[in-house]
Amino acid sequence: MTTASAPGKIILFGEHAVVYGQPALAVPVNQVRADAEVTDIDRAGIWINAPDISLHEELSRLAPDHPLAAVIAPLLSPHFAGTKMGGPRGAGLQINISSTIPVASGLGSGAAVSVAIIRALATHLGHPLDDKQVSALAYEVEKLHHGTPSGIDNTVVTYGKPIFFSPPLLRGFSPVYGGDKGGASIQPLHVAEPFTIIIGNTGISAPTKESVSDVRKLWEQNPTKMNALFAAVGSLARTARQAIEGGYPERLGPLMNENHLLLQEMTVSSPELDRLVEVSLKAGALGAKLSGGGRGGNMIALSAKENAPTVAEALLEAGAKNVIVTHQIVI
Ligand code: PMV
Repeated sequence: MTTASAPGKIILFGEHAVVYGQPALAVPVNQVRADAEVTDIDRAGIWINAPDISLHEELSRLAPDHPLAAVIAPLLSPHFAGTKMGGPRGAGLQINISSTIPVASGLGSGAAVSVAIIRALATHLGHPLDDKQVSALAYEVEKLHHGTPSGIDNTVVTYGKPIFFSPPLLRGFSPVYGGDKGGASIQPLHVAEPFTIIIGNTGISAPTKESVSDVRKLWEQNPTKMNALFAAVGSLARTARQAIEGGYPERLGPLMNENHLLLQEMTVSSPELDRLVEVSLKAGALGAKLSGGGRGGNMIALSAKENAPTVAEALLEAGAKNVIVTHQIVI
């Protein structure tokens, strides 16, 4: 049996603008994880067992664009990327998938499931892949989840470390899809002083594909306005990196508030997200914003460590479906 695991993630700064070439910051969330387990079995076929989504099915019976089929099928091709991947040792394979990462909530559940499966399956078939290969394969699957992903999700989930993700900025700000062009610069984000981020889930599942596509429509209607919003977000992301690497994490608070206002202007917030942001600030958070695709899913708040329980409590009282307190450690 071969197992692998991948963490969830949050975007600290730069969602949506990153699709248009602006930098973004993301960190792994280790309290939630996706796990994959691959076993040789005597029964023929590739059996996929994902109880969280009530799926127990043979691979060939899934539509080719089903995200799980899209992860697994290419790896089983005997000539996969010229790697001479070995076949199953038994008649078939069973792939068990489980995840504690809420779906469609901005915590990178799709990317983490892909990364866990790719790692476990490739290793089981005798050809472990390096992080770059894993991330590139997961990026292909992200296209099914997100339509036009920037590549930030698969990157942070694969490397499992805080990153500063900077796609190539194309002339005229046309959308760039980092992983696709392979041109994104991925730099480790060095946390000089620890800081605490509280993640509050609205409980509303909102597909990133839709918010990304709506922002795309707005960009097509008014590129000048949208490019200005994206550039403003990019500049916040650069300043935030300096604050984190320079040891002044408390400076992130006002930057988060500004980023949230810009995301509201991009129409990707929602009354529930705005409410949780407001409640966290009233409870003493130093700054707060939505995180990820928006419209639902999660918001994040920066807080002094000792005040984190108060902010978490306030979020739960205001209707957050669950709350995760994360401590970013020096790295
Ligand atoms: O909703 P999430 O956490 O998967 O994040 C999406 C981030 C976007 O910038 C909105 C899209 C992307 O591909 O970068």
